[in-house]
Amino acid sequence: MGWKSLDDMDLAGKRVLVRVDINVPVENGRVTDATRIERIVPTVRDILQKGGKPMLIAHFGRPKGKVNLEMSLGQVLPALTAALDCNVVMIETLEGAENLTQEALDADVLLLENIRFYPGEEANDADFARRLAALGDIYCNDAFSAAHRAHASTEAIARLMPACAGRLMQAELRALEAALAKPERPVGAVVGGAKVSTKIALLENLVTRLDLLVIGGGMANTFLGAMGAKLGASLQELDYYTTAQDILAQANRSGCRVILPEDGLVAREFAEGAAHEVQQLGPDARLKADQMVLDAGPKSVETVRAAFQGLKTLIWNGPLGAFEISPFDTATVAAAQIAAERTRDGVLTSVAGGGDTVAALNKAGAADDFTYISTAGGAFLEWMEGKTLPGVAALEGRPL
Ligand code: 3PG
Repeated sequence: MGWKSLDDMDLAGKRVLVRVDINVPVENGRVTDATRIERIVPTVRDILQKGGKPMLIAHFGRPKGKVNLEMSLGQVLPALTAALDCNVVMIETLEGAENLTQEALDADVLLLENIRFYPGEEANDADFARRLAALGDIYCNDAFSAAHRAHASTEAIARLMPACAGRLMQAELRALEAALAKPERPVGAVVGGAKVSTKIALLENLVTRLDLLVIGGGMANTFLGAMGAKLGASLQELDYYTTAQDILAQANRSGCRVILPEDGLVAREFAEGAAHEVQQLGPDARLKADQMVLDAGPKSVETVRAAFQGLKTLIWNGPLGAFEISPFDTATVAAAQIAAERTRDGVLTSVAGGGDTVAALNKAGAADDFTYISTAGGAFLEWMEGKTLPGVAALEGRPL
């Protein structure tokens, strides 16, 4: 832990540039999930309490260096103001931030318009970072979920001024360190989702570090297919059979037990409530040409339950089946509830994050019981892949 926190900084009277991630889902101009906004509140409140003047820097969508008002942070401003419960003023341009009006100077919190409207941001341009740094006295990075990007407001700026981690960044780093860097063993993971191809680096890293890996979702079909199963119309990546075999061989060498579904819910259409039956899976499975596996079956869930008994730490990323359509959410919901129960009992540390994971755990009603749910998608995966996150390295003063 080579980074400083807000506790190490003297904030009184200082303009604090706070990099936040409020890249939240918006439909028809309204925020549909404010979790990321709510999670930055402690940092902003802390800065205000210590007499600092926060100026929030954030991105929204991928406008690729051009002004695009469809990606204006103006859409997020009402939800941000409600969450912070104070006077928040948005500054439309960098020039505006360099010449603050009296209204802006009087505001509790300033929000700079989408920083990705400027090409210098994603280019991690040194001059652009200097221009940003000149706007404040102290830099605070509270955007763990954007820390995998080496951008001017996440990386270059941290090397130009006194820098620290915000409360959310601090919480994310502590939880992720507890899950993978220094976990209480035995440590296991559930990795699900549609495709092996998007998670190769993750699986390769995990099998060398974990005691147990539960593979589910469409990607499990590719593993079973690589072992000889004929899975009909199931989602599979035939080009990744060798990759799957290599990952299994590596797991074997490293002493990581891999659990693949031994049975599954099999249907003929991908639809809510589709007629289905339980079939045995495994290398000898022979499904009909029009059949597809849409979820892990009851035996598989029992195997997972038994395997969880011994675990002290669990990392969760991705669903075990097509959790968006019932009843193919059954295995995900059941396994998440087992993990939640063991966490509640105080015998398991459970950390989840990345992509669809939070939605799946919410559906299972398990999210509140997990020890920690990361707000990060890509950054969570890159951390679990063992990569250095540029935003974290910069806070620690480590080279990229
Ligand atoms: C995210 O939503 O995962 C972060 O805000 C990063 O966004 P990006 O993938 O556009 O860099």
